[in-house]
Amino acid sequence: MKAVILAGGFGTRLRPLSCTRPKSLFPILNKPLLQWTFEKLAKSGVKYIIMAVSRQTRFQIKSFNVDAGELKIVYSCDPPKKPLGTGGPVKKAEKFIGAEDFLVVNGDIFTSLDYSEIAKFHKEKKAVATIALCRVDDPSRFGVAELTENGRIKKFIEKPPLGKAPTNLINAGVYVLSPEIFRYIPKGRKVSMEREIFTRLAEEGGLYGYVFSGLWTDIGRVEDYLKLNRVLLDSHFFEKKIVGSNENIREPVIIEGRPHIGKFSIIGPHVVLGRNVKIGKHVHVENSVIFPEASIADYASISGVVIGEKAVIGKNVKIEENCVIGDYAVIRDNIFLAKGVSVCPAKEVSENITASRCVM
Ligand code: GDD
Ligand code: MG
Repeated sequence: MKAVILAGGFGTRLRPLSCTRPKSLFPILNKPLLQWTFEKLAKSGVKYIIMAVSRQTRFQIKSFNVDAGELKIVYSCDPPKKPLGTGGPVKKAEKFIGAEDFLVVNGDIFTSLDYSEIAKFHKEKKAVATIALCRVDDPSRFGVAELTENGRIKKFIEKPPLGKAPTNLINAGVYVLSPEIFRYIPKGRKVSMEREIFTRLAEEGGLYGYVFSGLWTDIGRVEDYLKLNRVLLDSHFFEKKIVGSNENIREPVIIEGRPHIGKFSIIGPHVVLGRNVKIGKHVHVENSVIFPEASIADYASISGVVIGEKAVIGKNVKIEENCVIGDYAVIRDNIFLAKGVSVCPAKEVSENITASRCVM
């Protein structure tokens, strides 16, 4: 089976880190999300992948050299300055697909869903499209499905208003589609798969839902991204490697290479340290993801934060939950950043920021 990976969106809710990398290249336990997706698809027998991206994302992914193993990867780019949405790129990939069923996967999700099972279900039901569905507490940020007893989706509503969702079964961002789908998607323009195609298919009876339970997260927001890393550190996806007898570490912690960690610092629980991160003395880091080559100076305290590549955190800095520090940003000594502050790439911060905002 072939698969299309949709990875051309802008990742607005993950700014400023998504200004410098697409969501699909965000590290999850120090491995780019896209590589997890490649490995999972390869395990389910997929051999051929169509990357539906913007030109910028194609450039970023190629420069990053994500390991695709034996997979054959082709790029199908949206026209410059004309993003095709979630449906247009599928139509554009038609020439690569041929006459078999194929998979479509959103590039910003992590899941334990078995792709072969949903493909089997799709065949049995003779569906035009089958959507993987999972249950969440707040469905309002997602596409929501209402099912009949035999698994047909009778109604599909994209992002219903708060409290108006008919069920808490949401579109997990994985579909199996029959080639018949191409007759439904108009060519050469932006198309919303969810708002235009799924709604119509639901009315006509060709849309099915495959309900699964297990791990599923969309990394659309900073809190989701941190939570995914945390959940995985607590799961079997994390194969703990001994990092030496280090009294600094409060497990679970994943560390790439051999970082420098100063005396009396406490790292963890739930910390991901990228390659060549430097940590001074008396530092405290918990529940955070630190991208490669960032440095954190003495007495800094960091909790629930994502710190970008090569960012420099000064002495005695305190950074609160859900802050995001862009790549190459510099936070001067003794600065305090309150909850939810985001700092743009390469920005220097030399005054306290006491309320949630973006420092540009
Ligand atoms: N090539 C291309 N071009 N890809 C795009 C474009 C585009 O114009 N717009 C979005 N994408 C990609 C994104 O990179 C992402 O991987 C996927 O399509 C979905 O877009 P998002 O922008 O992340 O949508 P969402 O998270 O708000 O909602 C979608 O995903 C939810 C599950 O995570 C919908 O499909 C919802 O129904 C679903 O519940
Ligand atoms: Mg998303």
